[in-house]
Amino acid sequence: MDAQQIAQVTDMMYALRNPAGLPTYPIIFVALGVLTFAMHILFVQLLLGTSLVALYAAYNNHPLWRRLGAAMIDVAKVSVSVAIVIGVAPLLFVQVVYDPQWYTSNVLSADWVISFIILLILAYWAMYYFYFQNYKREDKTAQPKSRWSLIVSMALMLVVGFIMHSLTTQMLHPELWQSWYSNQGKLDFSGSQLHAYNPWRFAFFISMAIPVTGAMLVTYRRFKSVRSDADHTYLNFAAEVGKKWILVGSIISFVLYVAWMASLPETAGNFATSFWGILGGLGVIGYALWAQIRLRGEAKFCSYMALPMALVIGLIVATSREVLRYDILNGFFNYNFFDYKIVMDWYSTGLFFLTFALVGGSVLAYFLTIAWKAGQTVGVYTPSATVNKMGTVAIWIMVLWMIQFFAVGFYIWAK
Ligand code: HEM
Repeated sequence: MDAQQIAQVTDMMYALRNPAGLPTYPIIFVALGVLTFAMHILFVQLLLGTSLVALYAAYNNHPLWRRLGAAMIDVAKVSVSVAIVIGVAPLLFVQVVYDPQWYTSNVLSADWVISFIILLILAYWAMYYFYFQNYKREDKTAQPKSRWSLIVSMALMLVVGFIMHSLTTQMLHPELWQSWYSNQGKLDFSGSQLHAYNPWRFAFFISMAIPVTGAMLVTYRRFKSVRSDADHTYLNFAAEVGKKWILVGSIISFVLYVAWMASLPETAGNFATSFWGILGGLGVIGYALWAQIRLRGEAKFCSYMALPMALVIGLIVATSREVLRYDILNGFFNYNFFDYKIVMDWYSTGLFFLTFALVGGSVLAYFLTIAWKAGQTVGVYTPSATVNKMGTVAIWIMVLWMIQFFAVGFYIWAK
């Protein structure tokens, strides 16, 4: 592309920018986008990886695998809901800061964006179908019923992920938007195609399901091992599988990361050999090295660290991924999110962070405490008075939040 063509693309993107501006500094949206994307993709990887364990176990007669599969389908169905809920957050942030790119990419593939929801619902239904067919079985080592539904679920989940991947890739190619929309003079308003993808990048994010699920298995052993009815043969088996998955998975992901970097478009300049380009890869392979050192032998006390550490690696990769987007859109196409017009709104910015900390904090603290204690209790868990109080406080905080929401709304409306 010559300088004039690049300038045209730059102008086009600035013309598409929302003239209303942003309510706070753009870097805040980008930072939150990176953080929430790392959390989203961690749960996506968990849901895919634990489904894979369940699927493998469904086709394997080994009784320990069968038990592990039955336990992991529970993790998978919770992970889907968390992945979906947390997925909304990066969606909000990316569409605020990168609105010209995100909306164009969505409109160019509108059919896929709409079918995304339908496919996701079908994928989740298929997973629940498998679950409901099997959860009441007394004998967890028997062959599960309706194994096909888990295969359908995983296949659809991958299609859903691929749609997201394609939308994210299309936004990095503003130079091609016009040719996608007017192919050889013929206008295409259908939105029926996914125009861009990078198989290595997609495979990399999906492959991280293996080490992340390995981390889950190691943590699972640590979590369950304190119960008086713990079956250590089974739990040690789970942790051994986990350690293997961390090692093998990190190596596979590292190779795919290198392939992704090697296949970057020329608009990415020398990102692959830049600090963030290299750090992303080092993070992935570093996870395997860290796990080899920390998780040697039983290592009971440190095994909780495996999952938080996977999130740290995810954050490094998410940052690299964001720097890549910046390097392409700003470095090559001169579109800089830092120069977004700001119409400062302290109330909404403050409310956002307070909601996050107080509403999110209190509700999550309550839910996590209940889930944690229930998981470690043999038989029926009865919450203590303190835990019950945590629940009451969380409800009151939500009620106060709703009151202020309507009070401020009415005040502004009446003004
Ligand atoms: C449960 C199935 C899902 C899977 C397997 C999945 C998978 C993925 C993958 C692989 C990526 C990375 C794409 C890339 O960078 O190449 C991604 C990004 C993303 N996902 Fe999901 N996803 C799922 C559900 C969702 C849902 C339900 C939402 C929103 C409601 C969502 C929102 C996002 C957003 C906004 C991004 C891109 C963020 C950005 O570009 O900064 N995802 N997803």
